[in-house]
Amino acid sequence: MSNESPKPLVVAIHGSPRRHGNTSTLLGEAVRGATESGCQVSEFHLRDLKLSPCLEIYGCKKDGRCVIKDDFQQIYDQIDLAQGIILASPIFFYAVSAQTKILMDRCQAFWVRRHWLEGRPYGDTTWKRRGLFIAAAASQGQKLFDGALLSVRYFFQALDTELTDTLLCRGLDQADEARHRPDQLAAAYRKGKELATLITAQPGA
Ligand SMILES: Cc1cc2nc3c(=O)[nH]c(=O)nc-3n(C[C@H](O)[C@H](O)[C@H](O)COP(=O)(O)O)c2cc1C
Repeated sequence: MSNESPKPLVVAIHGSPRRHGNTSTLLGEAVRGATESGCQVSEFHLRDLKLSPCLEIYGCKKDGRCVIKDDFQQIYDQIDLAQGIILASPIFFYAVSAQTKILMDRCQAFWVRRHWLEGRPYGDTTWKRRGLFIAAAASQGQKLFDGALLSVRYFFQALDTELTDTLLCRGLDQADEARHRPDQLAAAYRKGKELATLITAQPGA
C-alpha cells in the first residue's frame, strides 16, 4: 500500500461549445502545467454534459445541494473537494458562453450554503480555493473582458475561491488560432503551473 498523500485537486471547466477550439487549447496547456506541478485535475467539458439551467426553485435551501438530478451533481462534488478551479470560456457578446453561464448559475447552491445555511456574512473572504479564469475572444477592444470578469469574480467569491489569476486572450477567431500563438500557449502553461505551485505550497495540501 502506498503512503503517499493524495495530490491536491483542481477542477478544470471547459465552457466552449467548440470541442477543439481556442478555449480548449488554452485550458489544455493550463491543465498540463497544473498536472506537472503536482495537482490532479478533474476536467469537465460542459458541452458534453446534461446540465439544466437553474430553475430558481431553491431546493438547495434544505442542505446546500441542488435538487436537479443531472451531471451538475458530479461537478458539485468535485468543486467541494477541490483546492483550485480553472474556469475557461470564450467571450460571447462580452460575456461568458451559455454553457459556462448555466454552470455558474447552478453553483447558486454554494452561495445558498455559504450565506443562508452557514450564515456567513457578505464580504467574508475566507478563501478555501484558488481560481484561474481563462477567456478567448476574437477582437481587441479594451473592455472586451470586463463583462465576463465582473460576473466571474462574483461567481468565484460564491465558491469561496480567490480569483488568483486570469489569462485573457485577444485576437482568436478561428478554432485553431490559439495553436499558432506560442505566447498564449506559454502563458496558459505557466499560469497552470503557478496555480498548482501556490496550491501545493498551502499548509494541508
Ligand atoms: C455567439 C458568439 C458571440 C461572440 N461574441 C464575441 C464578442 O463579443 N467579442 C469577441 O471578441 N468575440 C466574440 N466571438 C468570437 C469568439 O469569442 C472567438 O471566436 C473565440 O476564439 C471562440 O473560442 P472557442 O474556439 O473556444 O469557441 C463570438 C462568437 C460567437 C459564436
